[in-house]
Amino acid sequence: MLKIFPSSQQGISDAAAEIRAGHLVAFATETVYGLGADALNDTAVASIYEAKGRPSFNPLIVHVPSMAAARAYVDFNETAETLAASFWPGALTLVLPRKPDCPVSRLASAGLETLAIRIPAHKQALEFLKSCDRPLAAPSANPSGSISPTTAQHVIDGLKDRIAGVLEGGTCPVGVESTVVGFDNGRPVLLRPGGITGEELTAAVGPLLTHDADGTTPSPGMQQSHYAPHCPVRLNATDKRPHEAFLGFGRDQDHLADINLSINGSLIEATSHLFSALHLLDEMRVAAIAVGPIPETGLGVAINDRLRRAAAPR
Ligand code: TXA
Ligand code: MG
Repeated sequence: MLKIFPSSQQGISDAAAEIRAGHLVAFATETVYGLGADALNDTAVASIYEAKGRPSFNPLIVHVPSMAAARAYVDFNETAETLAASFWPGALTLVLPRKPDCPVSRLASAGLETLAIRIPAHKQALEFLKSCDRPLAAPSANPSGSISPTTAQHVIDGLKDRIAGVLEGGTCPVGVESTVVGFDNGRPVLLRPGGITGEELTAAVGPLLTHDADGTTPSPGMQQSHYAPHCPVRLNATDKRPHEAFLGFGRDQDHLADINLSINGSLIEATSHLFSALHLLDEMRVAAIAVGPIPETGLGVAINDRLRRAAAPR
């Protein structure tokens, strides 16, 4: 039976006890709900892959409550220091070399010599991490390939029989996963667009490379089809066809929209509604989804990235 831990001191410490016992507990962060496991425990980390039904061992993000904790596991270069100082706690994940004595499960790194790490900016998540008293490996708390969860109910709908519990933490305010940045000879590389925008990163450290570290292969875990609802998704739609539900953005598209991500055209608001809207349309079992154009700037880059994956052939 899945336990629902309330958002209270008691709920947090009970959920942390489950983590220390090697079980999986989903918890809220500012981006999306994470499926947390003790990152020092190989068996617990392995059970993440099992619960999500991941096709392969994609590397996972490890969550820590402080810079001191992060320094214990990975080596920071100068740019990484600047990025951490600018955006942590927050929706940024840094992929950095593991320290030689790094105790984090090798499975969390999927065999790579690097580890993805972040300090979330979510009060309850930080308290939970401190209460667990160990780093938490946590991918988004959804079955592999389906839409990321931004409420406890989404987690329950997707994973109820496969995890020990959910720590109730309300709705995730950002609504899209963290931006992932890796390094190529010390130069920052954008591996996944997300909650921190390209513009914000560039303002802090100058332009980022966008290819993978070796210039060819895509970042692990960046499968084309991901975040997929059950029905076809048509992008950049300027009309609504029979049997389609229309996901709109801004006042101009409101006459077509069954759901408007932001009538005022706010990319922040649209990001926070994106996955809930996709979940809702999925639950309604609509035959097809049409999505209106969304500007390719700021958070729009992350929104369009997720929508392209939702629309990709599978
Ligand atoms: O907002 C988020 O990032 C959420 C919350 C729970 O923190 N987590 C999340 O985790 O989205 P996940 O596992 O769904 O996505 C992890 C991403 C993947 O694109 C993966 O390929 C990349 O991070 N990643 C992790 N470790 C990596 C590594 N060592 N090298 C390159 N990419 C890595
Ligand atoms: Mg995910």
